[in-house]
Amino acid sequence: MDLDADTDIQSCVKDFDDLSDEFKSLATLHKQYVQKLDEVASLQSKCVKELNHQRYRLGIIKKSIKKSARKPECKETVESLEQNMIRRKADLFEIEQALPKKNGLYLRIILGNVNVSILNKDEKFRYKDEYEKFKLIINGIGLLISIGNIFMNSRVLDLIFMFLLVWYYCTLTIRESILKVNGSKIKGWWRMHHFLSTALSGVLLIWPNNSVYYSFRSQFMWFNVYISLVQFLQFRYQRGCLYRLRALGERHNMDITIEGFHSWMWRGLSFLFPFLFIGYFFQLYNSYVLYQLSYDPNATWQVPVLSALFLVVSLGNIITTVAIIPQKLREQIKLKSRVSSIHKHFYGHTANNSDSKADNPTGKSEPANAQKHVGDGEPESKKTS
Ligand code: COA
Repeated sequence: MDLDADTDIQSCVKDFDDLSDEFKSLATLHKQYVQKLDEVASLQSKCVKELNHQRYRLGIIKKSIKKSARKPECKETVESLEQNMIRRKADLFEIEQALPKKNGLYLRIILGNVNVSILNKDEKFRYKDEYEKFKLIINGIGLLISIGNIFMNSRVLDLIFMFLLVWYYCTLTIRESILKVNGSKIKGWWRMHHFLSTALSGVLLIWPNNSVYYSFRSQFMWFNVYISLVQFLQFRYQRGCLYRLRALGERHNMDITIEGFHSWMWRGLSFLFPFLFIGYFFQLYNSYVLYQLSYDPNATWQVPVLSALFLVVSLGNIITTVAIIPQKLREQIKLKSRVSSIHKHFYGHTANNSDSKADNPTGKSEPANAQKHVGDGEPESKKTS
């Protein structure tokens, strides 16, 4: 018995000695890894410093250009300098995508100083795609509950719905702040819109279910059904943009061009806009009805507050959406520069499908592919729903 125990313990000692040899190589490997991490951190901070320096000097040059722009003899040089500056900004933006960024105030408050930068392009894409899917799923659930609420009168289901809205918009504000840190160009208004919608849903949640509430309830549920349907259309458009923009940045993608993307985008927008504007006028109508209801003797403070919130949200949506049209018309050149930068920084050559004066100083001939229109701008295999 004792002999067996002795053999067992000896074999354990031998195993541990073997493992210790393996541990030595793990420790060496880990040391190398930590060294590399230090190197990466130091390279990152050097790049950030250089990047800030570039931006600072670009700012100064921009101010100086403004002064010279008035002189007719400088017109050509100024124009060419401005083009080059747009390209440089796009280059800097692409460089920034692989560098860690500080959290904004909102994220610092709710998450603390945890690093939410995603440095890999594919992971960034996946995160955005997941965000769109998240919106789609919650909208589907919201649609079912609001249809249920139209045909049933259950206070519990009403409260579940309002609570879902508070949670949903609150989650969107966090996800969008993370997207923003990771280079998303989402406009400040849409983020503000989701903060206001969180407040709006919060006020709805605590609105007592008196006669005034029931005067508005049915209209509100129809409004939600409509908004959920519009969100499905919006999802199709946003996801289409996401996949096509990704395809534009791919190395050897000959099937999608900037012109192809733009023609697809305008068709998408012209289809979406009427539905969006009906939604915005519905919001204005909600505001008007609540304003009328605020004179009811049973009206609580929630009624005028909701009316004001619907008014602000609606006006903000209308102004932002109208402002998108001229901005989209101007953005083609920026997009060309951006795609060219993606190719330069990630694949080591310039895009076949974007012209770049920086790489083609004459700026006269455009690569054949840049002129090519390819139907929807995406191969069949890549078409999204
Ligand atoms: N919510 C979240 N993100 C939005 C957004 C919105 N409403 N509108 C635009 N974005 C994002 C885009 O996905 C893009 O992100 P990226 O930089 O990470 O790729 C970025 O903001 C820039 O988008 P932009 O080029 O300005 O607009 P777009 O062509 O993608 O979309 C609209 C334009 C008008 C279709 C879009 O803003 C929209 O659908 N707005 C309506 C929202 C609304 O009113 N909803 C309520 C329904 S009534």
